[in-house]
Amino acid sequence: MLWNPGEKHIVIVDGDIKKIPNLGVVKTQRFIGREWGECIKIGSKTYWILEPSLEHAPDLIKRGPQIIQPHMGSLIAHYCNISCGSRVIEGGAGTGIMSAILCRAVGPTGSVYTYEIREDHLRLARSNIAKLGMLDIWVPVKGDVTSDVKETDADVFVVDIPEPWDALEMANKCLKKGGFFAAYVPTTNQLQQVYLKMKNMGYVAMKAFENLHRDLVVSEDGTRPSFEMLGHTGYVVVGYKGEYSEE
Ligand SMILES: C[S@@+](CC[C@H](N)C(=O)[O-])C[C@H]1O[C@@H](n2cnc3c(N)ncnc32)[C@H](O)[C@@H]1O
Repeated sequence: MLWNPGEKHIVIVDGDIKKIPNLGVVKTQRFIGREWGECIKIGSKTYWILEPSLEHAPDLIKRGPQIIQPHMGSLIAHYCNISCGSRVIEGGAGTGIMSAILCRAVGPTGSVYTYEIREDHLRLARSNIAKLGMLDIWVPVKGDVTSDVKETDADVFVVDIPEPWDALEMANKCLKKGGFFAAYVPTTNQLQQVYLKMKNMGYVAMKAFENLHRDLVVSEDGTRPSFEMLGHTGYVVVGYKGEYSEE
């Protein structure tokens, strides 16, 4: 990533000459051998060479279906207690952003099995995840996450599909006791429906939330919230698979 206080450009460095939108023609050979954090002059401007993080993934990939924003995806990983070695089942690859966040969280010893019904979305997600360098952890499967999942003893089952409640019976077969089910949904109607079904099926310690993220603009003259804020992305429901007992 080439960065200065007013600009940000993602450049794939392969030694070729590249036309970078809003920057111009750049010989990427110039960047080979440079270290992260170094400065470089391009034309009259100075840029820092910075390693993009998953926060910048949406700028790096080819867009397809609506993505889970990285800050939201990372919170899902947090609430599901995903860590190195976790076995995660995901429903709905879409553009592949959530898959990449999950791969980063479970790697290098865990696995992410992502079920996707559409071949074109699976292809898109695969090329995006390759670009983000996480193909070795990702197991893409063409199939329906509500009926086709083969893996068992999973730590987490997470879905971003229109009818997440349909995945709960499958999740119950695949999750280990005490594992997590999480759903990301764009509307409160979906949130309510999946929450209530989870509760009926014995999920416990449940949490439903949204996460409004607002940047601050900091300067010596005064600090204030940014005028630009993404007002709505989606809601999350997460809970532990509990065993029901009347004792
Ligand atoms: C909104 S996109 C997911 C985006 C993804 N979370 C991301 O961050 O890039 C939803 C995806 O779920 C897929 N899908 C819908 N129903 C499904 C099902 N029952 N099983 C598997 N995939 C499904 C759709 O084809 C679509 O690609």
